Amino acid sequence: MRIIKAKDYNDMSRKAANIIAAQVIMKPDSVLGLATGSTPIGTYKHLISLYQAGDLDFSEIRTVNLDEYKGLPKGNDQSYDYFMKENLFKHINIKEENSYIPDGMAEDDEEECRRYDQLIDSLKGVDLQLLGIGLNGHIGFNEPNDVFSKGTNLIKLTESTIEANSRFFESYDDIPKYAFTMGIKSIMQARKILLCVSGKSKAEILKESIEGPITPQVPASI
Ligand code: PGA
Repeated sequence: MRIIKAKDYNDMSRKAANIIAAQVIMKPDSVLGLATGSTPIGTYKHLISLYQAGDLDFSEIRTVNLDEYKGLPKGNDQSYDYFMKENLFKHINIKEENSYIPDGMAEDDEEECRRYDQLIDSLKGVDLQLLGIGLNGHIGFNEPNDVFSKGTNLIKLTESTIEANSRFFESYDDIPKYAFTMGIKSIMQARKILLCVSGKSKAEILKESIEGPITPQVPASI
């Protein structure tokens, strides 16, 4: 594990984008594991700039996203599908059919989890997985638990996460309470992982993740 310090959010974002850019240049058909939330927005902006400057080509890149809220249809402006289109995909030359995200409207939860795991397998795994970290140490939406999850699973979001997400929704009732997330085992099977952390509010959980024991109560500790 390498810890790269950055002087502020923009510096972190630029450094993260450079690492992803290196992956895209060295392996143009990479499978990138992508994340949503406020953390990666700056990273995506820098990737868009590199693309616009003619330095990156995403035409053969495949992407798999970590998670999606249950109950939000594609196109809903709070869905992660929408987030990815707005913050990255519509600005670069990635092919629509090459980006994947769990289906928040799937009727059969177990079947959707199976489908997503098979999809990741069919892509031969993730080359570089981008992660943020939740205030409670979650990665993807794998909340603190007694065990590390394996494959894609449907998670009941904790109050801490619902609270953190409330800034994006009009009322408590509107905030999704469940989400599909790639499992911890699938995340750990990525050939490289880039975890980005920014802001004072994350300092304590970052310290716990890095210096504390490896425990499913702090999913990022793994
Ligand atoms: P944030 O979310 O980037 O919006 O802080 C991170 C996460 O929950 O993984």
